[in-house]
Amino acid sequence: MSRLVVVSNRVAKLDSTKSGSQGGLAVGVAAAMSKAGGLWFGWSGKIESAQRSEARVETAGNIDYATVSLNQVEYNQYYKGFANSVLWPLFHQRPDLMSYREVDFEGYLSVNEKMARLLLPLLRPDDTVWIHDYHLIPLGGLLRRAGITCPIGFFLHIPFPPLDLLRTVPRYRELITALMEYDLVGFQTDVDYRGFQFSVVYGLGGEALPDNCFRYRDYECKAGVYPISIETDTLREVGKTGEASEEFKRLEQSLTDRQLIVGVDRLDYSKGLPQRLRAYENLLRTQPEFIRKVVYLQVAPVSRGDVKAYADLAHQIDEQVGHIVGTYADFDWVPLRYLNRGFRRNTILAMYNLASVGYVTPLRDGMNLVAKEFVAAQDPDNPGVLVLSDMAGAADELDAALLVNPYDSEQVTQGLAEALSMPLAERKERWQSMMAVLRDNDIHHWQERFLEDLGQFR
Ligand code: G6P
Repeated sequence: MSRLVVVSNRVAKLDSTKSGSQGGLAVGVAAAMSKAGGLWFGWSGKIESAQRSEARVETAGNIDYATVSLNQVEYNQYYKGFANSVLWPLFHQRPDLMSYREVDFEGYLSVNEKMARLLLPLLRPDDTVWIHDYHLIPLGGLLRRAGITCPIGFFLHIPFPPLDLLRTVPRYRELITALMEYDLVGFQTDVDYRGFQFSVVYGLGGEALPDNCFRYRDYECKAGVYPISIETDTLREVGKTGEASEEFKRLEQSLTDRQLIVGVDRLDYSKGLPQRLRAYENLLRTQPEFIRKVVYLQVAPVSRGDVKAYADLAHQIDEQVGHIVGTYADFDWVPLRYLNRGFRRNTILAMYNLASVGYVTPLRDGMNLVAKEFVAAQDPDNPGVLVLSDMAGAADELDAALLVNPYDSEQVTQGLAEALSMPLAERKERWQSMMAVLRDNDIHHWQERFLEDLGQFR
C-alpha cells in the first residue's frame, strides 16, 4: 500500500485532549492521519536563525513528523506577509485588509522551494503526496519539476475567491497555474470549485474539459468538491471525558439555571466577532426578557497577533466587550465572558453539550469545523441549537441549522432569540437531520474520497 505523505504549514502532534488556537486544518488533518498513518511534513512553528540542511524527524505512533524551522525573514515574508496579509484576507473577501509586497511573494516562493528541497530526500516512489492549504500552493509544481512522479494532490481549506477579487494579486496567474500542476485539486464547496473553474477559463484562458478536468498549455488537472468533516462518532464520548475537568465543573456551577450561548473561534476578522457581539447586544437591548437569563461565552485565542489587522481587531473587540459588560452587567450577573485562550479539546466539547446555542457566524469561512463539532457533541435527547452563518462552507451541509446572514444584524439577533426559545421537538428534528449528514460524511470519508480520486493518477 502506498504511504501517505501530508504536507501542511502547521503540523499538530496528535493528542485528542489538547487544543489551542490550531484551527480547522490541524484538527481535520490530525484526525484523518490518525487512521492512515504516514509522514506529516511542515513548519515546526519555530523561528530560528540557524538553519538545518535536513528536516527534523520524530515518530509518534503510526506517524513520522518531519518539521523545518523558518528564519525571521522567511517568517515575515512567507507566513506573515504573502500567506496571511495577501492570500488569507483576499480569499476571505477582504481585499481592504490586503497588503501586497513583491518581496513577500518572492519570500513565499523561496520558502516553498525550501520545503520542496527538504522534503525531496524523504519521499519514496510509491508515496501519495497530499499538500494542504494556501501557504503551499507552489509546492506541488516544484516537486514535479524535481522529478517526483507519484500522485500529488492539493486541498484548499479556505474559500477560493471569485476571479474579480483574485485579480487584485498582481501575480495571480502564477497562482492559478501552480494549482494546475497538481493531479487533483480539492475545494470545500461548490462555490469554491466554480471560482477556480472561472479563474482557469477566464483568468488564464484555459479550458474546462469533461469529468471536472482542466487544461491550460501543457498543464492538466482535475478538481472536485470534498467538504472536510469531523470524527462524528467519537466526539460525544470525548466530550464526556471533559465533563470531569475542573474548568467544566466551574462553568456548569456558575451558570445556575441560565442558558449558555457559546462561540469558539481563533481571533480572526473572518470570524465576524464584532458583528456577532453587536447582534448579542441587540438581543439584550431589544428583548430584555433575556437579561439575566443568558450567558454568552466567547472563547477566542489570539492568532497571528503580529499581523496589524489582527492587532486592530483585538483592540476593537476589547472595546466592544467592555461596553457590553459595562452597560448590562449586574453585581451577580455578567452577560458576556470573553476568554483569549484555548482550552483542552475535551473541555470544549463538554462545553458545547452544555450550551443551549452554538453561535457560529463567520463573515466568510472555508468550512468551520466548530459548527460540525458543536452538533456532534450534543446529547440526542436534549440537543442545543446551532446558529450558523450562511457564509460558512458548513452551511451547505448543515442546512437544518438556524442559518443567518452575518451582515444582517437584526436577523442574527432574531436567530439567537429563536434558538434560545426553540421547543424540544424542533431541536431534535434539526439535530437528527444534521447528524445524518455528519455520519455520512465524516473525516474518514472525506479522506478516503480524496485519496481514492487521487489514486487514479498512479
Ligand atoms: C485555518 C487555516 C489553516 C491554519 C489555521 C490556523 O484553519 O486554513 O491553514 O493553519 O487557520 O492558523 P495559523 O496561522 O495559526 O496556522
